[in-house]
Amino acid sequence: MPHKIGIVGAGGIGGIHAAILAKDSRVKLQSFFDVEATRAQTMASRFGGRAAGSLEELLTECDAVFVCTPNTTHVQVAKDVLEAGKHVFCEKPFALDLESATWLRDRAVRSGVVYQVGHNRRFAPVYKVLKQAIDSDELRPLSVHAKMNRGELVNPPWVWNASLTGGFLYETPVHMFDLMTFFFGKVDWVEVAARSHGHGELDDFSILLNFQSGLQATMKTYAHASWHFPFERFEVYGMHSTYETFEMERISVTNGLETRTTTFDYALASMHEKWGYIEEDRLFVDALEGKSPAPVTADDGYNVVELIETCYQSAREGTRVNARAVARKA
Ligand SMILES: NC(=O)c1ccc[n+]([C@@H]2O[C@H](COP(=O)([O-])OP(=O)(O)OC[C@H]3O[C@@H](n4cnc5c(N)ncnc54)[C@H](O)[C@@H]3O)[C@@H](O)[C@H]2O)c1
Repeated sequence: MPHKIGIVGAGGIGGIHAAILAKDSRVKLQSFFDVEATRAQTMASRFGGRAAGSLEELLTECDAVFVCTPNTTHVQVAKDVLEAGKHVFCEKPFALDLESATWLRDRAVRSGVVYQVGHNRRFAPVYKVLKQAIDSDELRPLSVHAKMNRGELVNPPWVWNASLTGGFLYETPVHMFDLMTFFFGKVDWVEVAARSHGHGELDDFSILLNFQSGLQATMKTYAHASWHFPFERFEVYGMHSTYETFEMERISVTNGLETRTTTFDYALASMHEKWGYIEEDRLFVDALEGKSPAPVTADDGYNVVELIETCYQSAREGTRVNARAVARKA
């Protein structure tokens, strides 16, 4: 029997997951729910399944639910899905403050269902190359420089509004914070200088991260850079080696003088593959089948919220802030 999947939030990312899941014979796209009913109807006629009249209705007919609604709704919708005993895939960010992140993490762990957070970058081919190099000891990171810019805060139309996004760090750079912990482990302390250039929120951050391993990374993230390519980049330096990503298009590897640089180029792969969406969805269905655990857990989602809150506190206070001290206050 295929797993019956519901999608809540029939917007941009809901459409991406629906297009990918529609090609997986192990699932049936059962129903869609959106507060704007026509969006759910459009999605149902495009991918099959039906438009549900309410979240409750969707929950009665599905085994697993993709939560693809705006940031501020994630905790409440995920809570409703968990209370119905259904498996959850919830888009990033996991939550928008430490208190609700702690509550949701504990609730998800206790529930015993599959809970996966949509940190798709982990499954982008460029980042898989980097992760594999670190895990195999081919690269021992000694220093890191990274950036993730946005072109503007115009599309989607709510993205400029911090009361809806949770703040700029929860919108775009949230992916970088997940990758930072995925690659390099837990952060010990951060020092952040931040400014505001528009919309009354901090939108320009210079961040120094000191990991528990002793590794230091610098990260720049700015909201209004135009979409000049690449707006996302990691440079990871080992002893006489550099791994450098260029957006999610390619990664180059240089291992010292008098060697050649090797470049892995994914430019011609589909956007769904390059950005990691296909693999994250396949692994979620694998988890439903009991083949492997969810690859991005509620704990992982919580860790990102903790790191972002640590950065905001440092930016506000203008001081070095210890991540464990922030977690203890939650
Ligand atoms: N992982 C990624 O790469 C990625 C990419 C884009 C968006 N996202 C995340 O996905 C979420 C949605 O983003 P989007 O770009 O698809 O936004 P969107 O505005 O295109 O779609 C959101 C949809 O949710 C609906 N909605 C709002 N509140 C609802 C509710 N309570 N119940 C049901 N439907 C509701 C809206 O009507 C809209 O159709 C955001 O949290 C965003 O951060 C993740």
